[in-house]
Amino acid sequence: MAILVTGGAGFIGSHTIVELLNSGKEVVIIDNFSNSQPEVLDNIKKITGKDFKFYELNYLDKEKLEEVFKENKIDAVMNFAGFKAVGESVQKPIEYYTNNISGALVLLDTMKKYNVKKFIFSSSATVYGDPEIIPITEQCKTGGTTNPYGTTKLFIEQILKDIYVSDNSWDICILRYFNPIGAHESGLIGEDPQGIPNNLMPYIAKVAAGKLEQLSVFGNDYPTKDGTGVRDYIHVVDLAKGHIKALEKIEKEGKGIFIYNLGTGTGYSVLDVVNSFEKSTGVKVPYKIAPRRSGDVAMCYADPSKAKEELGWVAEKTLEDMCKDSWNFIKKNN
Ligand code: UFG
Repeated sequence: MAILVTGGAGFIGSHTIVELLNSGKEVVIIDNFSNSQPEVLDNIKKITGKDFKFYELNYLDKEKLEEVFKENKIDAVMNFAGFKAVGESVQKPIEYYTNNISGALVLLDTMKKYNVKKFIFSSSATVYGDPEIIPITEQCKTGGTTNPYGTTKLFIEQILKDIYVSDNSWDICILRYFNPIGAHESGLIGEDPQGIPNNLMPYIAKVAAGKLEQLSVFGNDYPTKDGTGVRDYIHVVDLAKGHIKALEKIEKEGKGIFIYNLGTGTGYSVLDVVNSFEKSTGVKVPYKIAPRRSGDVAMCYADPSKAKEELGWVAEKTLEDMCKDSWNFIKKNN
């Protein structure tokens, strides 16, 4: 029985596949390389010494997707095939709603047809909008998303809840990621966005590599310890391991819809990240203070205790590890 991974060549998908293969799972990957490179697949093989089946296709293509279900014995599905750039989603709402929501629906409908009912979904802390309490627990109110990307995550969560109500033989796990950064310690896979990065760590790495002049720190007048935005950065390998624990839960115990925050529980400011990057890599990151970015909240970090209690999962890597591994990947790939 295999685990089907959509968007498996992407940042979080690729790291999760490494953990799946290392834990002895059979993996089938689909990806259309809309935001990733085919080399990632070779690098997964180099890291793990293991092989997998791969299909180049868009998960909106129902006919081709069905072939994958016909040709393989799929036990569970992990869905990473979402568009994820907040700013771009404001410019391209139709593309975001189509790819993320219609894509998920095609996938879920195909799963239903082939009686595959174990699903792990990549959601995001963005579903909490401007959080009502910090640290954020899974009970916190969701909604109030400020961009189409966030709204796709919120809507898909609702769709999954409705599917479970209609048929409680589904086993569904919704994982709400906080801010994934870092890279595999080999430096073979990681995050290298095309063009000018939107997210903090890829931007810092490009500045450190001399490709961009300086970082703009978006606001230093938030009600936080140094005035800059506070987030819960989590190493992508810790995040990937969270998926293995989630899979174990729905494979062993099953029957239910479960929601977990995947974060470290510690908030770091933008300046904490800059300082930690400089300290752990020895490379200076010039920065200037710029106006606030619209849609940003002051603070967002997780209460990850539910994942600890129910999955036996905790994030283990430090902010220093995250900075070192991000830099190692960028150095090797530029
Ligand atoms: N920041 C800067 N300068 C930059 C980029 C970011 O100061 O050039 C700051 C932001 O203002 C924020 C922090 O760094 O305070 C983190 O920003 P990111 O863009 O890296 O991450 P966000 O928290 O805004 O968003 C991330 C993901 C979203 C996800 C959200 C969930 O990008 O997909 O976390 O909380 F929805």
